[in-house]
Amino acid sequence: MADSAALPHQPVLLTEALAGLNLRPGGYYLDATFGRGGHTAAILAALGPEGRLLALDRDPAAERCADARFGADARFAFARSTFGRLTDRVAERGLVGWLDGVLFDLGVSSPQFDDPARGFSFGRDGPLDMRMDPDAGSSAAKWLARVDEAELERVLAEWGEERFYRRVARAIVAARQRAPITTTARLADIVAAAVPTREPGQHPATRVFQAIRIAVNDELGELSAALPQAVQALAPGGRLAVISFHSLEDRIVKRFVRDQARGRELPLDLPVPGGPEGMTLRRIGRAIRPGAVEIAANPRARSAALRVAERLP
Ligand SMILES: C[S@@+](CC[C@H](N)C(=O)[O-])C[C@H]1O[C@@H](n2cnc3c(N)ncnc32)[C@H](O)[C@@H]1O
Repeated sequence: MADSAALPHQPVLLTEALAGLNLRPGGYYLDATFGRGGHTAAILAALGPEGRLLALDRDPAAERCADARFGADARFAFARSTFGRLTDRVAERGLVGWLDGVLFDLGVSSPQFDDPARGFSFGRDGPLDMRMDPDAGSSAAKWLARVDEAELERVLAEWGEERFYRRVARAIVAARQRAPITTTARLADIVAAAVPTREPGQHPATRVFQAIRIAVNDELGELSAALPQAVQALAPGGRLAVISFHSLEDRIVKRFVRDQARGRELPLDLPVPGGPEGMTLRRIGRAIRPGAVEIAANPRARSAALRVAERLP
C-alpha cells in the first residue's frame, strides 16, 4: 500500500485562514497542525525570503510529508510534537512572544481518515487504532478493552453527542466479553446493530467513532492546553486562527477568545484601578464558514468554522 504521507489533503478555508493570519512577507508563523502541508504551502508562498514558518504535527506520516515537500526550503522547520506542548517547541527556538501568527486546523487529515491501516474509518476495515501518533498512548482497541461502562457512556454522550449512548455502551461491553474488539468493521457492526434509527446520509457509527477518536487522542484536552500557549507565543498584533470541525471544539475556541477578549473583571473596591484586566485578545469578526462552492468541491469542509483573534499589546 502507498505511504499515506504521499496522499493529498485538500486544505479547508484556505483563503479565509490566510486573510485571518494577516500575513506579512517577513513574518514568523506557526502551523500547529501540518497534516499534508496544504496551509503551510500557501503561507510559504506568501512569505518573502525573510519569512519563516515552523510546523508541528504529532503524526509520523506528516513528518515524512514535511521532509519530502519542504525539507529543501530554508524558511521552513518541522517538529514532531503534540500542540499541547507548543510552548516547549516555540521556546526551544527563542520565539515566545515573537510569532506573527499561529494556525490550528483541527481534527484528522483526509489521508489519516482514508487509510484503513490507521483505524479511523468505519467504512473500510482495518485495525482499531485511531491514534494520530501511533507511537504514543493506547490504541482505540486497547482503550475499548479497558474503559468501564459508565465512562464509555459519558464519552459517547458528551463527545459523540450519541442519542443512544446507553444502548451502544451496553452492546460494546457485551461484545468485548465474547471477544476483544480489534477491528473497525467489528466496532461499526456492533454500533449499527445497537442503534435503532438511521440518519440520512450518515453511517450509524459516525458519532461513536468521533467520540472514541476524541478520547484516544485527548483532542479537547490538547486544544484547551494549546490555546493559552498560542496566545503567549504571539507578538502584539499577532493573529490566532483556528479551524474547528465540530461544535465541541468550536465551543472551546469561542469561549476562550471571549474570555481573553473580556479580561478579568476586578471588584471596584479593590485598592487598584477597577475595570477589565488581563485582556490578551481582540476578536476579529465572527465565525467564518465555507461557502457552497467549497463544500461542493470538498464535503469534509461542511462543518468547518474559522475563528480569528489578535494578540493585544
Ligand atoms: C485537518 S489536518 C491538517 C491539515 C493541514 N492544514 C493541511 O492543509 O494539510 C489536522 C492535523 O493535525 C494533527 N493534529 C491533530 N491534533 C494534534 C495535536 N494535538 N498535536 C499535534 N498535531 C495534531 C493531525 O495529526 C493532522 O495531521
